[in-house]
Amino acid sequence: MGAVVTGGGSGIGRALARRLAAGGARVVVNDIDPGAAKAVADEIGGLAAPADVATRDGVAGLVAAARAYLGEVDLYCSNAGIAAAGDVNDEGPAAAEADWQRSWDVNVMAHVRAAEQLLPGWLARGDGRLVITASAAGLLTMLGTAPYSVTKHGAVSYAEWLAATYGHRGLKVHCLCPQGVRTNMLSDAGRAGDVVLRESAIEPEAVAEAVWSGIADGRFLILPHPEVAGYYALRAGDTDKWLRGMNRLQQRIDTEQG
Ligand SMILES: NC(=O)c1ccc[n+]([C@@H]2O[C@H](COP(=O)([O-])OP(=O)(O)OC[C@H]3O[C@@H](n4cnc5c(N)ncnc54)[C@H](O)[C@@H]3O)[C@@H](O)[C@H]2O)c1
Repeated sequence: MGAVVTGGGSGIGRALARRLAAGGARVVVNDIDPGAAKAVADEIGGLAAPADVATRDGVAGLVAAARAYLGEVDLYCSNAGIAAAGDVNDEGPAAAEADWQRSWDVNVMAHVRAAEQLLPGWLARGDGRLVITASAAGLLTMLGTAPYSVTKHGAVSYAEWLAATYGHRGLKVHCLCPQGVRTNMLSDAGRAGDVVLRESAIEPEAVAEAVWSGIADGRFLILPHPEVAGYYALRAGDTDKWLRGMNRLQQRIDTEQG
């Protein structure tokens, strides 16, 4: 199997790249940080393909490099993501326009641009697999960062749309939605990250293992924190109760901050 992992230089992406290689895949490791991509690629005997997947050219160059190395891309893990801090607070909108735009490009458009490159070939051969790393924030919400919550909902929605549209033509889509995972992103998540995520946080290796078994089981939603399924059901079944609970958490964050 030939696989690509974006954002594979650290955290969940690195664990995914290692797990896929251990399972026998040939892996192309992408990251915007060339040194990080190279370190992981060297470790697992893969190819480093640094690129910024937030741009159309970056994704096109990555897929071309991957095809040259692998022959065909069987599995593409669109995993790179960023968490811009920012909400609307007493001082006004705290997330800059640039943070919204960058979040949109990395957390949503990178998946769209990957599909643009890969789908024609996959549909022609009737086979292809895409793993989109969204987040539990894409099923629920993440306090403290509106750009992250909104764009991760976009990622889930795009993954659903792809599966609904192309499932009968051989496209397999998985949507990975973890809560807290002990990576650099969580370390940088501030007070909301502490209150909401840290207690139940898991290691990136556990997330990679969940992806491996989610692929084997052919499951669309991959939930390394099983409790997320219950929160998601509550959000759908009693949205007001769910929102009151989230707001109580926000009040806890405010109190601990104040
Ligand atoms: N850590 C968590 O708690 C958590 C929870 C849910 C979802 N996620 C998601 O998991 C994914 C991986 O995050 P992580 O926790 O491993 O964080 P991380 O910061 O450790 O890793 C992200 C990697 O992506 C790379 N990257 C960022 N922008 C890029 C771009 N434009 N092009 C190529 N590479 C880029 C970074 O250099 C970094 O190596 C993200 O999509 C994130 O939103 C993380």
